[in-house]
Amino acid sequence: MTTADRFDLTGKVALITGAAGGIGRVTAARLAREGASVVVTDIDERGCKDLADELAALGHRALGVALDVTEGDSVGAAIASAESVFGPVDLLVNNAIVACPIPPKLHEAPANLWDTDLDVIVKGGVHCCQAVLPSMMERRTGVIVNIVSVNAFAFYGHPSYSAAKAALVSFTRSLAVEYGPYGIRANAVNPGTIRTAAWAEQEAKDSAVFDALTQWYPLGRVGDPDDVAAAVCFLASGSAAWITGSVLTVDGGLTAGNSVMARSVEGS
Ligand SMILES: NC(=O)c1ccc[n+]([C@@H]2O[C@H](COP(=O)([O-])OP(=O)(O)OC[C@H]3O[C@@H](n4cnc5c(N)ncnc54)[C@H](O)[C@@H]3O)[C@@H](O)[C@H]2O)c1
Repeated sequence: MTTADRFDLTGKVALITGAAGGIGRVTAARLAREGASVVVTDIDERGCKDLADELAALGHRALGVALDVTEGDSVGAAIASAESVFGPVDLLVNNAIVACPIPPKLHEAPANLWDTDLDVIVKGGVHCCQAVLPSMMERRTGVIVNIVSVNAFAFYGHPSYSAAKAALVSFTRSLAVEYGPYGIRANAVNPGTIRTAAWAEQEAKDSAVFDALTQWYPLGRVGDPDDVAAAVCFLASGSAAWITGSVLTVDGGLTAGNSVMARSVEGS
């Protein structure tokens, strides 16, 4: 990484949900390297505490806190306990999902799948925002970054996840408009396929799944968690001071057009 790639988050307190997962842990580590004190939260208590220990061993300020984003009553208490250690949250990253390795078609979806996606992605994001907004409003500063997905904008399989992510995009815009006057910014990072454990079951079924997906990506590869982490750090930093309500697409060109069709049209 060069100096130009750095986003100074020194003195900031960042809280990320789903931090024991693929994108979450890399983003938490990147936030820590940029100087933030990082509250790493996940429903997986062991996972987030182990990650916090790893970051602390590297000399970073990190705290692991078990947090189930769907439990509205306990989210506030968990965040308040973290704030009693590091101080108020300056940056919230809503990242948690329940990965659905092989997404079912709509008519085959188990009864609770829609509830799970809407509860974790939409209501989970709302609960976390409600916990951090009062202090951000009082201090007239704060940043919220919601991790959405290209599935929010076009269909790539998995109806309930797609609908929930579309709702999170809408929620991001509501946050930006309602809380902009308090100096609070809210943006979404919009990834395409990112190589994480969320794909493990599909990869076990078809070891070439990422090779097959690569053909759709003009930049010739699927994404890495670092690609998302960099976008989060940019949006959290002062370099993005006048950016709010936006969706930063991090998808290697997937949604810029249809590269497979373009090759057919051009006969190449
Ligand atoms: N991997 C991809 O291809 C991809 C593509 C586009 C968007 N995204 C988005 O990136 C984010 C991270 O995805 P990932 O691939 O790292 O997933 P992941 O499955 O590796 O991580 C998700 C984490 O969320 C945690 N979690 C689940 N339920 C929770 C709850 N109720 N409360 C708190 N934590 C909970 C899990 O324990 C897990 O650690 C998600 O928002 C996902 O939609 C991923």
